[in-house]
Amino acid sequence: MKKMLYRWFDERLKLRPIKIALLDEAIPGGASWVYIFGSITLFFFLLQMITGMFLAIYYSPSIEHAHESIRYIMEEVEFGSFVRGLHHWGASGMMVMIGLHMLQVFLYGAYKRPRELMWLVGVVLFIITLAFGFSGYLLPWDQRAYWATQVGINIVGTLPLVGTSLLRIIRGGQDLGAMTLNRFFALHTLFLPWLLILLVTLHLFILRRVGPAGPWDKARAARIREPFWPKQVAMDAVGILIAFMIVAGLAVWFPAPLSDPANPTDTTFNPIPEWFFLFYYQLLKYFSGPWEVVGTLILPSLFFLILFFLPWLDRRKDRRPISRRFFFVGGGLFLTMVFTLIAISIRDISSLPTLSPSVLRGKAVYHELDCAACHRIHGAGEAFGPDLSYIGELRSRDWFIQHFKDPQSLVPDSMMPAYGLEEQALHDLTDYMLSLKHEIDR
Ligand code: HEC
Repeated sequence: MKKMLYRWFDERLKLRPIKIALLDEAIPGGASWVYIFGSITLFFFLLQMITGMFLAIYYSPSIEHAHESIRYIMEEVEFGSFVRGLHHWGASGMMVMIGLHMLQVFLYGAYKRPRELMWLVGVVLFIITLAFGFSGYLLPWDQRAYWATQVGINIVGTLPLVGTSLLRIIRGGQDLGAMTLNRFFALHTLFLPWLLILLVTLHLFILRRVGPAGPWDKARAARIREPFWPKQVAMDAVGILIAFMIVAGLAVWFPAPLSDPANPTDTTFNPIPEWFFLFYYQLLKYFSGPWEVVGTLILPSLFFLILFFLPWLDRRKDRRPISRRFFFVGGGLFLTMVFTLIAISIRDISSLPTLSPSVLRGKAVYHELDCAACHRIHGAGEAFGPDLSYIGELRSRDWFIQHFKDPQSLVPDSMMPAYGLEEQALHDLTDYMLSLKHEIDR
């Protein structure tokens, strides 16, 4: 049966040359687990495409509806939370795999002549993936998205000469707003995917032309030669399966976050970028004032220049680690720095003041009683009564309690209703009012 089917298709499609072209590639030194990361990266890209297409069915790229459409996906749509979880964790998975893939290529010196072109295309693919991460982060249009993107975009604004015009192009106007969201959506779902598909094809085309580099041990490479099919394919498949199970598990047990809707007037929100930008975010903190360009322009340019021209910097033919000590030490130092900065950043972020339970309960009371019908906090709500954004700096605890019990006793002609709150609600609401300051207390 299988034979018959094969023959039927083979007669019409001439399958043999395809098999030779796709699967019979000889791998010097034989199949190995260290070669699986490229395939897993490619798998993650496909996963992002598929989950992304399903998310696009419900997602609406407008500032009025973006947040609500994501909430709808998370709460109403069948498997919505799972699909968004796959997309969310898949992005991280893709980053990790690209990192490991690049590390492997680096350790093996696989970018050396004659594979410089494959490396160059790979570096561009890496940059495109970062752009995917950055543009995708804004799309839910929640507080995290808004403020992290604000920080990211402002970096562009500090560039000398081109900064301001570039800033305007990226934002599509004066502010981060409706136009920006549209731009990022188009970038994320149309421009970048096509570009990536094109360059991945080129990357693989070059791979088929020059062949894989194999181990640095020449004797071993010459002695053992194994075709891509079936052993390497099987190893890649196992890697892909494990990677998928991890991401699926994360999607089930740790749903992708969605914070409050973006509020451009609430400047107290602490920006938290995606983890793969954290080390850079942290790095920027060490360069302020006139030194800012070092962080925003000089160091990134240096990094990408070195990355691009690595095959020409590390040009000795010998690929063994012993003859490449300088680059190993350099790479090791760089990675140490990256992970140290990530650790510092995570420590800083997790020690940010969090709202106490009574403040959170008070916030809930505020919403329940619809105080926003008369009051405004950071731009949200009506301006009938006084703006309460920083009211905690103006009044004392006793004053609030007295005022809530009987507004007219303090402000004789007050229009504010007396709510007759229970003791607990009264104190929670007061704690919430007291927390409304420029700096949040711990
Ligand atoms: C019907 C509209 C209305 C509603 C609803 C309302 N307020 Fe007021 N509120 C006012 C007005 C008008 C004032 C100004 C007069 C005064 O201070 O009593 C005021 C004053 C205040 C003040 C004092 C501000 C200052 O600067 O002195 C606080 C605090 C306050 N409101 C909190 C609340 C909270 C919390 C709620 C919900 C439980 C609420 N208000 C509901 C109209 C309202």
